[in-house]
Order: sequence, then structure tokens, then C-alpha cells
Amino acid sequence: MNPPGGSESVGQDTAVIPGEGTPDIYGVVGHPVSHSWSPFIHGMFATSTAQHLVYRRFDITPDDFRHDILQLFAGGVRGLNVTLPHKQAAAELVNELTPRAARAQAVNTIAYFEDTTLLGDNTDGVGLTNDLERNLKLTLEGKRVLILGAGGAVRGVLGPLLEREVREVVIANRTPSKASSLAAEFADLGSISGCAFAELDAGPYDLILNATSASLHGDLPPLPEGLVGDSTVCYDMAYGRGHTPFTAWATAQHAARACKGWGMLVEQAAEAFLLWRGIRPHTQPVLDALAEHG
Ligand SMILES: NC(=O)c1ccc[n+]([C@@H]2O[C@H](COP(=O)([O-])OP(=O)(O)OC[C@H]3O[C@@H](n4cnc5c(N)ncnc54)[C@H](OP(=O)(O)O)[C@@H]3O)[C@@H](O)[C@H]2O)c1
Repeated sequence: MNPPGGSESVGQDTAVIPGEGTPDIYGVVGHPVSHSWSPFIHGMFATSTAQHLVYRRFDITPDDFRHDILQLFAGGVRGLNVTLPHKQAAAELVNELTPRAARAQAVNTIAYFEDTTLLGDNTDGVGLTNDLERNLKLTLEGKRVLILGAGGAVRGVLGPLLEREVREVVIANRTPSKASSLAAEFADLGSISGCAFAELDAGPYDLILNATSASLHGDLPPLPEGLVGDSTVCYDMAYGRGHTPFTAWATAQHAARACKGWGMLVEQAAEAFLLWRGIRPHTQPVLDALAEHG
């Protein structure tokens, strides 16, 4: 990682923003986590808002999650972003949940307060809708939305998507029972159903979100023909250089747009930064810097 924008990088996984005294410690926990650009993003946020902090990556396995997270907070860590596969475990670990994290039963941001409260929040949903609506200028109301995957990230985005009064949400997952039970959990918010990839009805859908972690392994879920039409927007929550397997598929299917999850990543991070530091950083400079890498 070689971040531009004034933040100094130390090793591969730490962003230190210079300032007086001992910096506050933050980080991202996941397994794997080496692909995470959060140190770069929070480094730019901290520089632009003059916050003195350190931001690190912590690779922690599911077996060690509870023990190691509690150790980190006992050792002075002030806040953590939580990425796959720990979002549901994080919701069970914290003392308190924000309303949106309680709805999701998944946590992607933990804040430590001096009274030893660990507050769990979920900023994935607002991160996605900010990117779709503000950055990509999409309207969600009345749209047919297909979501691939039924993991922690999907839990966070279902509430905000359904609140936009989309026409319907279909969740397709490798383990179909997870898609069905997630759909049942959110059925009070709108029209939503779950199925296997092979059971998907013919499209086209207006928006297809890839929220599987298949892209991280260079894989694509087995998708039937007919899902993509002339105006379909395909969005991979995964991000990286060049095409992901999903954006390559979307392009081959002649989707109107094929986008990666950089914008969601930056927008969800800005909401986490606001919770931790009380300041909402501007996201455009970070989006511009990442566009050079993506
Ligand atoms: N851009 C952002 O800000 C942002 C935010 C959150 C997440 N994400 C990305 O979203 C993805 C999902 O994250 P998560 O936290 O939801 O992960 P997760 O909780 O581990 O869920 C993973 C999901 O992917 C499915 N899956 C895994 N490998 C697959 C394969 N080879 N083929 C088909 N399906 C497969 C799983 O299906 P089963 O249920 O059958 O196991 C499950 O539905 C990751 O790529 C993550 O990096 C991005």
C-alpha cells in the first residue's frame, strides 16, 4: 500500500497520522483482512480532519474472535471496523446496538466508550445507499433488486434498501435456506424473497448487487441467463484493481453499468469515523484517490 494524500504509511497495514501526544488506536478486524483498504481511507480522513490516530489491520480467526477483540479493547483500542466473516459475531459481543445494527443483527463498526460500553453500529447500509444515490445518481424507488449472497453485508443493507420503497428484493444464495430465512426476517419492510441461484426467475432486474465473497477467490456464483437487461446496473460490493469476476460477467452481459464497491467502502467508513470522532469527513477526495488505484 502506498497511499497518496498526506498520510504516512508504516509497514503494510498501519496508517499513523502525526500529532501531539499518544495517538488513539483504531483498526479493522477480519479473516482475511490483508485486502482491506480501510487503513488508507481512515488515514486520509484523519489527515483531512486533523485527528491524531493510528489505524491497523487485525487478522483474527472466528475461533479467536471474542477473546482477541476483548483484549484489543482492554489494551486501549478505541474503535474497530468489522469485516467478513465476523459481523454477526460482533453483534453478539457488544453491550449495546444502534437501532440499525439491531435491525441487521450484524455489526461493522464498534466504538469503545470510557464507561466500558462497546457500542455496535452498522454503516454498510448507509454506505451503499450513499454511494448508489449520491455518487452514482441512481433512484431506488420502484426498482427490482437482486442480491447475490446472504451474509453479514446483506443483513446491513436490506433495511435501508427496503426503506427506499424498491419494488422487490430477491436474495439468491449458495445456501438457499439462509436466503429464505433472511427474507423472512425482513418481510415486514417490503416485498422480499429468497432462493437458490438455479431458482432465479428470468429478469431483467434493475439493480444486481453481488454481496457474495466469491470475488475474493476469483469466483462467480453460477448465474442463469436473462438477469441483465439494457438498463441493469450491476454492483459488486467487492473491490480491487481491474474487473472482478462479477463486473467482467456484467460487462459481457451488456449491463448498463458495472461498478465495484469502492464508493460503499468509503461511505461506510465515513459514517464509522463520524461515530468515533464526531466529525464527518469529506469523501470525494478519497474517492478520487482510490479511482487512481481501481
Ligand atoms: N464495499 C464495501 O464497503 C463492503 C462492505 C461489506 C462487504 N463487502 C464485501 O461483500 C462481500 C460479502 O461480505 P460479508 O461480510 O457478507 O461476507 P460473509 O458474511 O462471509 O458472507 C459471504 C457470502 O458469500 C457467499 N459465498 C462465499 N463464497 C461463495 C462462492 N464461491 N460462490 C457463491 N457464494 C459464495 C456465502 O454463501 P453461503 O451462505 O452459502 O456460505 C455468503 O452468502 C465480501 O466480498 C466483502 O468484501 C464490501
